[in-house]
Amino acid sequence: MFKVRTLNQISPLGLARFDAKRFQVGADIEDADAIMLRSFKMHDMPLPARLKAVGRAGAGVNNIPVAALSQRGVPVFNAPGANANAVKELVVAGLLIAARNLRGAWEFAATLKGSDAEISRAVEAGKKAYAGFELPGRVLGVVGLGAIGRLVAHAGLSLGMRVIGFDPELTVEGAWQLSAEVQKAASVAALLREADFVSFHVPLVDATRHMINAETVGLLKPTATVLNFAREGVVDDNALVAALDAGRLHAYLCDFPTNRVKNHPKVVALPHLGASTQEAEDNCAIMVAEELRDFLENGNIRNA
Ligand code: MLT
Repeated sequence: MFKVRTLNQISPLGLARFDAKRFQVGADIEDADAIMLRSFKMHDMPLPARLKAVGRAGAGVNNIPVAALSQRGVPVFNAPGANANAVKELVVAGLLIAARNLRGAWEFAATLKGSDAEISRAVEAGKKAYAGFELPGRVLGVVGLGAIGRLVAHAGLSLGMRVIGFDPELTVEGAWQLSAEVQKAASVAALLREADFVSFHVPLVDATRHMINAETVGLLKPTATVLNFAREGVVDDNALVAALDAGRLHAYLCDFPTNRVKNHPKVVALPHLGASTQEAEDNCAIMVAEELRDFLENGNIRNA
């Protein structure tokens, strides 16, 4: 009997992949063979002595001590692509929120007072103040062209945008698998200069930390919007807020409501919602449960 400990709530559809005759699964298990988690930060917890595998029901693994585990020969499995559509849809929402000034417009409407006739008159001021712009012809810069970045790139094309992409890891020409309509930017700097919207879809590693910082933020157009539904440290909040305050940037949309950004009038900061749809939670849990099950039972390794 293998024991699997869950450190976060995991979709029952995923847990059902563990046959009860061969697997004991639960949150209270101590001497676990495998750990399954979502965003729980594993760095400070003692590792069970007989731990053989860890499964992240998501794409990123920066909440897991991967190096320490690999020294012990413990693989870390993840679910690349399983929540890509959920993130893409949130990015599309973000593009529209920014282009149509929806945050400010919504707040403006909520503060209107008086009779409906008075509100109707006051609406005129909002109509003027929050007028937006349309997406066709605007340039969407996608940094990171893995499963999520590629879907975002194609969503941009389907909205009539011109899409440029850059991926620090796709260095081999043949690895550029996007449609011919997505242009390859020569560098991140070139992409930042050209884009009306920049959307990040990279893991947080040394090379991607603070890709937007006090220096690179100056490359962006003053009308540009930055979207970060990847990881908190990819964008330096301080640099972003300074640029927004100085009128050198249109808006910032992100999945990390830090104190620096969460109340800023030009920021929409969400509580890590990118992968939070029922479909994505099911897909991730099923993929990772099958990976853990097949590894524990047969030694098969997929996505580790
Ligand atoms: C991911 O890395 O795919 C997301 O952080 C998943 C999640 O929100 O659990």
